[in-house]
Amino acid sequence: MKVTVVGAGGNVGSTVALTLAERDFVKEIVMLDIERKEGDKSFFPSKGRALDQWQTAPVTNFDTFLKGTVDYADTKDSDVCVITAGVPRKPGMSRDDLLSINGNIVKSVTEELVKYSPDTIIIVVSNPLDVMTYVAHAASNLPAKKVMGMAGILDTARYRAFLAEELNISSKDIQATLMGGHGDTMVPLPRYTTIAGIPVTQFIDDAKLNEIVERTKSGGGELVGLMGTSAWYAPGAAAAQMVEAILLDQNRIFPCAAYCDGEFGIKDLFIGVPVKLGKGGIKEIVEIDLNEDEMKLLRASEDAVRSTLNDFKKLMDN
Ligand code: NAI
Ligand code: 2OP
Repeated sequence: MKVTVVGAGGNVGSTVALTLAERDFVKEIVMLDIERKEGDKSFFPSKGRALDQWQTAPVTNFDTFLKGTVDYADTKDSDVCVITAGVPRKPGMSRDDLLSINGNIVKSVTEELVKYSPDTIIIVVSNPLDVMTYVAHAASNLPAKKVMGMAGILDTARYRAFLAEELNISSKDIQATLMGGHGDTMVPLPRYTTIAGIPVTQFIDDAKLNEIVERTKSGGGELVGLMGTSAWYAPGAAAAQMVEAILLDQNRIFPCAAYCDGEFGIKDLFIGVPVKLGKGGIKEIVEIDLNEDEMKLLRASEDAVRSTLNDFKKLMDN
């Protein structure tokens, strides 16, 4: 099994690579990034991170080889490619400010990847997530089930972590899903949150639960405020979990940005929905029942993602 991570000289990409390597089931992880020039000096962050991370193997005991490169030829025949290339959000910058820069990066990266791995599966992490996933799909010519975005696992992880801390209960026993775009319009679904199968509402009052839902919605912004750049440990671990589910054919149910062609009444859009993930990519979109209020929130989120996509299309036309 071979996995490529593009943008792997950066924070999220290198975390995806190391998390996967430590699980020790992939033969090789190719870490690709661009050459960085500073004055008359050249730096190769993907080669540096790969070498540093590979040198942890004798200590943490894994055999997965981590290869740093700037050459797409090294990515040939990758089973899964993860795209984290782009610019992260800085304080005061919205995800949508990233649109044009990251759109062009994701498009060109995808075109290079499919040249060398025409049957690969692509997981996009770059923001704005739902639109970047659309861009990768369009540039790849791959079937929709082979292109997806990572956001929902991260957002539910934040929600579950906040609940675990508040209730003093293991996060392992907290199950949750959410829908919609990765951003302020995400649609948390407390009705589908359970703790060891028991509805969460039996553990927490509405006011406190709403507080946690609101904190989850701005979970990315909270970390940007604290660190001056966006998060990487949880996003990296979340993307690695998707790779694992696909390569080990685990049939996991996760919220991922997937192509909707009528599901939930959404047409021609990548947006967060519950999917079954395994060999070949997205095996199924799980169409859970939504009540009127949840559907209203999903429509608002759909409108927000579509409007960003339309902005991107306009930018590309000019
Ligand atoms: P970073 O700046 O640490 O890493 C980005 C890397 O992309 C850099 O090493 C850069 O050299 C590389 N890059 C830029 N242009 C490239 C190109 N044309 N080809 C190959 N590599 C290229 O940023 P970080 O923190 O790793 O974030 C990466 C992306 O992930 C950002 O867009 C960020 O907003 C997004 N993100 C998404 C999350 C999600 O839930 N979907 C969560 C966290 C971050
Ligand atoms: C996050 O949610 C910024 O999308 C990034 O951390």
